Amino acid sequence: MTLRNLLKKLKNDIDPLDADLIIQHVLKLDKAQIYSNLEKEIDHQDQDLINKMYKSRLRGEPLAYLTGHKGFWKNDFLVTKDVLVPRPETEILVEAILEENLNDKTILELGTGSGVISISIADEVKNCTIHATDISIKSLLIAKKNAKQINLDNIIFLNHDWNNEWLFPNVDFIISNPPYIDKKETTGSEEGIWFEPEDALFSKKNGLHDIEVILKKSKNILNKNGKIFIEHAPCQKEEIKKIGTSNKYKNISNLIDLNGDVRASVFKC
Ligand SMILES: C[S@@+](CC[C@H](N)C(=O)[O-])C[C@H]1O[C@@H](n2cnc3c(N)ncnc32)[C@H](O)[C@@H]1O
Repeated sequence: MTLRNLLKKLKNDIDPLDADLIIQHVLKLDKAQIYSNLEKEIDHQDQDLINKMYKSRLRGEPLAYLTGHKGFWKNDFLVTKDVLVPRPETEILVEAILEENLNDKTILELGTGSGVISISIADEVKNCTIHATDISIKSLLIAKKNAKQINLDNIIFLNHDWNNEWLFPNVDFIISNPPYIDKKETTGSEEGIWFEPEDALFSKKNGLHDIEVILKKSKNILNKNGKIFIEHAPCQKEEIKKIGTSNKYKNISNLIDLNGDVRASVFKC
């Protein structure tokens, strides 16, 4: 089969961008090389692999799990089924914290997953120290590999459950994209999430349990004027503001994502 016919077949059923990326991944060609070689015959082995990935994508498996990587901020990250697929919305947390003076500051990330948030910050500001935590050892191993790929030595990875005792030193900033989906509100038809680790997605108490724990405990270890940047669902913004106010945070502001939704909030001590 030629590349032209293969592309046509894939683009019939899946997102055309995904079709391009699957073919690029298997044939190890860039987009320009693909489109200037449309009459190239694809060998059977590559066709079988492309077909396998196309069928998985058709079943809803996230493309990042099929190709094993995903771009976030300025780098490409290793991604496996042990970690949440990094979302572009989460980049607003990185963008917002980078507006602060992070030189010689200490940052704590809660729930680092593949490490995209901490690694993106640490790569931009080499003289800050980041403690990146997660309950999942498997995800910490991926995050460590990602940090090593970029040669970063300013992140300390720690296995920690935020429901347990916090023995961290005081920090200047806390950042987190915690689980915040209310499982009761899901329909089963959501794109991608059913392939991702449950612990990374769902939270009790209408999706607010983990955010509540984090906001409450963070208050005790944030330095004066310290801030916490936390991602949440747009519909949770009022509830989260209430949690912040009841924990006596002084100043609460919102971060808006590319869709114009309130996707994160910032709380100042
Ligand atoms: C929404 S994912 C975020 C991953 C990554 N920071 C990102 O933005 O792509 C939430 C992460 O929190 C971790 N997590 C869930 N419950 C936790 C807990 N009780 N203590 C520590 N980490 C937890 C999950 O393992 C997961 O990696």
